[in-house]
Amino acid sequence: MNILIVSAEASPFAKTGGLADAVSGLGRALDLKGNSVKILIPRYYCISKDSLELCKSALLISTGWSEITVNVYRARNSVFYESGSLEYIFIDNEKLYGRDGIYGSDYEPDYHDNPLRFSVLSRSAFAFCRSINWIPDIIHSNDWSTALVPVILNLFERKNFPHTKTVFTIHNLGYQGSYPDAAYRLLGLPESCKYDCHLARFGGINLLQAGICSSDFITTVSKKFMEEAMTPQGGFGLDGILRGMSDVFEGIVNGADSTEWNPLIDRYIPVHYSKDDLTGKRICREALQKTFGLKTDPDVPVIGIICRLVEQKGIAELFAPYYGAMYRMCSDFNAQFVVVGSGEKWCENEIHSLTGRFENFGSYIGYSEKISHIVEAGSDLFLMPSKYEPCGLNQIYSMLYGTIPVVRATGGLDDTVISWADNPDKATGFKFYDLTPDAVYNTVKWALSVFEDKAAVRKMQHNGMSSDFSWSAS
Ligand code: ADP
Ligand code: GLC
Repeated sequence: MNILIVSAEASPFAKTGGLADAVSGLGRALDLKGNSVKILIPRYYCISKDSLELCKSALLISTGWSEITVNVYRARNSVFYESGSLEYIFIDNEKLYGRDGIYGSDYEPDYHDNPLRFSVLSRSAFAFCRSINWIPDIIHSNDWSTALVPVILNLFERKNFPHTKTVFTIHNLGYQGSYPDAAYRLLGLPESCKYDCHLARFGGINLLQAGICSSDFITTVSKKFMEEAMTPQGGFGLDGILRGMSDVFEGIVNGADSTEWNPLIDRYIPVHYSKDDLTGKRICREALQKTFGLKTDPDVPVIGIICRLVEQKGIAELFAPYYGAMYRMCSDFNAQFVVVGSGEKWCENEIHSLTGRFENFGSYIGYSEKISHIVEAGSDLFLMPSKYEPCGLNQIYSMLYGTIPVVRATGGLDDTVISWADNPDKATGFKFYDLTPDAVYNTVKWALSVFEDKAAVRKMQHNGMSSDFSWSAS
């Protein structure tokens, strides 16, 4: 099959979170299965032109009220993938994508022209396919930023792509591309489409809703999250629409890309290791302690956290002054904590102050792919107290790296981790249910007490590292 994946992010080029890893991992797996796969993303400033080559023809894209030119680049893909046909395509327009941020900056967290930027991305998908005479059997778009793909196909491109089917994946229902009505003109669509294409919502517009209603098939990234999304508590206001589409809605857990996240070949960690010989993991943990300026004590358990510092990830329960569990955990537990993340400023400030106050707390505020791999490899436990989590990739990476996850039982975290309390024989981690600082504190305390039983730890590590989290299985 010919498959075009359209996304705002794709690893290793542009990444703010799991979307990038999921898109590239899936693309690669589909490619290895013999499909012809192309992944289309914008060329932001974070993607150096040195790794790209310019395609001959530029594209003229209608914005609805005028036309703009976008250049097309392709990755010299052999640099990134040994396998045959997977191609990364980049659309380039200085005015729209010539910026550091993908969705926004510190000063403007959601760029004011995002409806235009991402509608041009969606329109470019079709212009690109036409320009090379390549007709996808499936166009797969992802999250609110590419939700207009099926809308544009149905409105303008059907005659050129009569048999193309659309699949839309909801990676994060909490981000919907909701804008005031005035932003509608930036999409360049006829007024009637606002209602016909289900863009109108509560007096404004909602791109995610339109993508869901206009696609042939919808997926989200775990079974449990699919069920949650169809309830008023977990549906972010779109549960009714999703319930109405349940016959074309499926939950499929993400896989992990074993060329990127694999302790046997990871290019960022100092020593490789396997489930049969964890000697290297001890060296990785020492490297982690050094990276974060912590005492290199081989006996103190290290607990890792890597995340976007946003409400979704349970940052209030961890870090809110006078409320969050981290202060008490640092004071009470014989353990070290390392945090990698960036996001809400109050939270970054709290993390800075914990770093100054506690010898057993280290942090890196910012984005670092290398440090994130070192944390996965060097930690003993990995904490994810998410408020909601459609899939979650870090708990999967943790299990594959022999790092035991401690998670709140929500969405994909519940689907992927087997709790010590439920089945000590098959356990891969620890789960808790309440979203409270006490639940976080008590579960970490429980995990640390089990951690003293070396045989139990070894078994859990072995279970996690033997699990099949491949894209092939997904
Ligand atoms: P989400 O997509 O909601 O952010 P996931 O668990 O699916 O959550 O994926 C997060 C991905 O982003 C992981 O690959 C994680 O390692 C990475 N990540 C998040 N924050 C950072 C950071 N500050 N530095 C490096 N990697 C990060
Ligand atoms: C999202 C979700 C996360 C998921 C990722 C990739 O951003 O928050 O749970 O793992 O997308 O699908």
